Amino acid sequence: MQRKTFLPILVCATTSWLACVDVFPPSDDPDAGRQRLEQARIDSGELSVPEVMYLGRNLAIRNWKLEDGFGNGDGRPAPNINRLPGPDSTSCMSCHGLGNGVILGWGNNAGNVLVSLDDPVNPTIAGSNERNTPTVHGLALLELLAKEISLELQAIRDEAVVEAQATGSDATRVLVSKGVDYGSITAHPDGTVDTSGVQGIDADLRLRPFHAKGHEATIRIFTRGALNRHHGIQSTEFLLMKDATRRPDTWDADEDGVVNELTEGELTAMTLFQVCMPIPQEVDQEDEAIARGRQLMQSIGCTECHVPFLKLNDPTWRYTSSSGKTLSVDLTETQTLGAGRPIRETDGSVLVRLWGDLKRHDLGPESHEPLDQPVDLSKPNYEGGAYAQRIDETLPPIPKELMMTTELWGGRDTGPWWHDGSSPTIEDAVLRHGGEGQASRDAFVVLTAEERATLLAFLDSLQVAPVGEILVTADPEANSSARVTPSE
Ligand code: HEC
Ligand code: HEC
Repeated sequence: MQRKTFLPILVCATTSWLACVDVFPPSDDPDAGRQRLEQARIDSGELSVPEVMYLGRNLAIRNWKLEDGFGNGDGRPAPNINRLPGPDSTSCMSCHGLGNGVILGWGNNAGNVLVSLDDPVNPTIAGSNERNTPTVHGLALLELLAKEISLELQAIRDEAVVEAQATGSDATRVLVSKGVDYGSITAHPDGTVDTSGVQGIDADLRLRPFHAKGHEATIRIFTRGALNRHHGIQSTEFLLMKDATRRPDTWDADEDGVVNELTEGELTAMTLFQVCMPIPQEVDQEDEAIARGRQLMQSIGCTECHVPFLKLNDPTWRYTSSSGKTLSVDLTETQTLGAGRPIRETDGSVLVRLWGDLKRHDLGPESHEPLDQPVDLSKPNYEGGAYAQRIDETLPPIPKELMMTTELWGGRDTGPWWHDGSSPTIEDAVLRHGGEGQASRDAFVVLTAEERATLLAFLDSLQVAPVGEILVTADPEANSSARVTPSE
């Protein structure tokens, strides 16, 4: 990873970018002294997006300390490190550490997480689903796609309800958004809706793109959960979710003697850092073998689920803070990462080349997990902030048989493969497709050896960190004019 040296500028006389570049200097020291950040400083427009991002970067590599609040988490007694119930590690990088200098990259099988589903305080291995660590590159685009798809599907549902009420008879609609088919819905004249035909998404038609089963809606929600689960760091926002009647910054909920373990602003910084990650790249697409492999993906049916791209209409990521100020980041402009930056089409959209369909499928026994998994029903921030969020227990858990289609972008790098990192090669993962993937897997098997090689060469061309390309997570020369704007 490229290291840049920043001269400390002790007096920051103006609010211009150049003068203030050292407010949160990027550090490669996971044990450096901790700098704190209040959301008010972001809300006031004092800091630019890259400045906030640098603090997030420092927190992402941080080895959390006892004095930060490391250790105890929700209902857990002692700060010993353990797989279950956690804390299981001292840093995000303990698991997201692969990638030759990439921050928040991917992980090997030895760092797999046991997602405990039985008892939060005394969980067991038998009561857990095992997951391998993916990379966080490109997640902001997936979050935004999921938001647009959710809103489109919900609009279809609302129209069906209006029609059923107006005509006095059932109204059935197909649920297609961005070309992906999520089944159908039938509205009744009394305003109720039959969701039994909904496929690959929860019945509330809210697409949650994160986790192997797709049960988490936003990077922010994910991050505040990961901080508690893996490190026992309880953000004020996490505590508000537990009990909105208490002051989160003076409440030592995990009784480790530390309050205010992570502020709203610090959670914003960690989220923003992930939002501004470079996106995975497709290299050497003009190469003849790779082009043929790409063609084969389509002709043998892989692209029915691994859809080459989905069109994102508005590539602007937004967070509305607890005081109603909105931080807007145009991912095509403020993202700082050269080749890893999404490009706008002439109509302002971005074609997100994810090689996935943001939908759950049944891939047969090789992919089935031991346990169903409840959905995290926290509201995404576009529905009014992280505050007043409550878990609604009426949505059924995600069946153990269903997994989200893994996006293949960056796929060359993110091995070992499969949701639990149990495939040592990409080809092994392809061969394990059964169920809805059986036909294309069988078509792959009967390809000639040369054809199979071109398809695998194509998969190898999808890279998080192309060889020879320097991945920096923020460039001080980049557009730094992004500021907080008043809430819309
Ligand atoms: C103990 C290992 C471990 C640690 C520590 C860890 N992660 Fe993860 N992370 C994982 C695993 C495993 C997954 C996949 C989870 C799943 O599919 O259920 C994951 C998934 C994610 C995702 C969602 C990716 C996706 O595509 O669904 C994000 C975002 C993320 N981690 C961020 C973080 C952040 C930020 C931290 C530090 C606060 C962190 N993680 C700490 C192992 C870890
Ligand atoms: C019916 C939908 C579907 C079809 C068709 C399909 N896949 Fe998949 N694919 C998935 C799902 C779902 C997963 C996640 C499985 C898991 O981890 O349990 C996956 C996982 C993968 C993985 C592992 C990725 C990783 O990082 O772990 C690869 C590689 C892959 N598919 C390639 C292919 C290829 C090549 C084809 C065509 C021969 C294909 N897939 C056809 C749905 C599909």
